[in-house]
Amino acid sequence: METLILGVNDIEKAAGIILKGGLVAMPTETVYGLAADALNGEAVASIFKAKGRPMDNPLIVHISKLSQIDMLVSEFPEKAQRLAEKFWPGPLTVILPKSHRIPEEVSAGLDTVAVRFPSHPVAQALISASCPLAAPSANLSGSPSPTTAAHVISDMDGRIDAVLDGGECSVGVESTVITLAEGTPKILRPGGITAEQISAVIGEVIIDSAVTQPLGKNQKAASPGMKYKHYSPKAEVILLDGDDDKFYEYIHKHSDDKTAVLCYNEEADSFSCVKIPIGAKNDDAAYAYHLFSALREADEKKCSRVFAHCPKKEGMGLAVYNRIIRAAGFRVTKL
Ligand code: TXA
Ligand code: MG
Repeated sequence: METLILGVNDIEKAAGIILKGGLVAMPTETVYGLAADALNGEAVASIFKAKGRPMDNPLIVHISKLSQIDMLVSEFPEKAQRLAEKFWPGPLTVILPKSHRIPEEVSAGLDTVAVRFPSHPVAQALISASCPLAAPSANLSGSPSPTTAAHVISDMDGRIDAVLDGGECSVGVESTVITLAEGTPKILRPGGITAEQISAVIGEVIIDSAVTQPLGKNQKAASPGMKYKHYSPKAEVILLDGDDDKFYEYIHKHSDDKTAVLCYNEEADSFSCVKIPIGAKNDDAAYAYHLFSALREADEKKCSRVFAHCPKKEGMGLAVYNRIIRAAGFRVTKL
């Protein structure tokens, strides 16, 4: 199939494709999503095919007004309402008991559904002109998530009906996923809203162990997405944990012309290999913003290895750590 590239004035056209059961990649504030009508099981099944995504990995349903949640969930508990009031629209996904209207394909056999109200005006306009949209990140399964329409095309050209080009995504990593479906609220994936911000609104929040560690041998994934290889460029990612002097020293010793370094802006002059800036030192939001496009850039530049700073495991740093530790196959090199 030919993949159309649409602009922000083509919302009606994109909505028409969705309502006929087609697939449209749309910009959100986090990453581009690959959208289909959330209540059309057949359309949702074609998302999995286009991405090469395992069918047991459930999808997030995106809404553009709070009242749409009633048809998606069977309960909307008080803590979820408080989070919605504070953080929606925005990069937070809430898992709740699902309603009978959610197709099997969306929830992948679970009795819950993930719901998100994105803040991006193009995503909101598309949902308003069509219906609630099931949308995973619009990358081939396993690759870094796309933060521009060009990234989407690079993975999905010929596999989907259209891409709505809304420019670069402002957050750069996916939404925070929290489950309120049972017991103490638990973060399954850190993202655009931090654990600290969430606990200021609803009190105690647990962070699932799979956020920072590989799943144990017999451990069941609370979020099925956690068990798959993720966010990986073709290049090998090597995560370095140590102070700046040791970082420079290590890279000088181990780099060649096929090596890239994800570096802070202020240290770019210190390296002779391929440099990919990821923002100012200690700016974790900038690291998040640049991370996926930096990993893709390393592949475009045909690098075989990428060295990166190990982010701290708090605030937005935790979201970066969660992605890059997977890209690095859970290996950290202590300097
Ligand atoms: O920012 C985002 O969340 C982006 C944009 C497009 O909205 N979407 C996104 O979707 O990242 P995806 O499918 O790439 O990641 C969703 C994650 C997966 O790890 C999935 O397993 C988990 O959320 N998930 C979805 N529904 C779930 C459920 N009912 N229970 C547990 N985990 C769920
Ligand atoms: Mg994804």
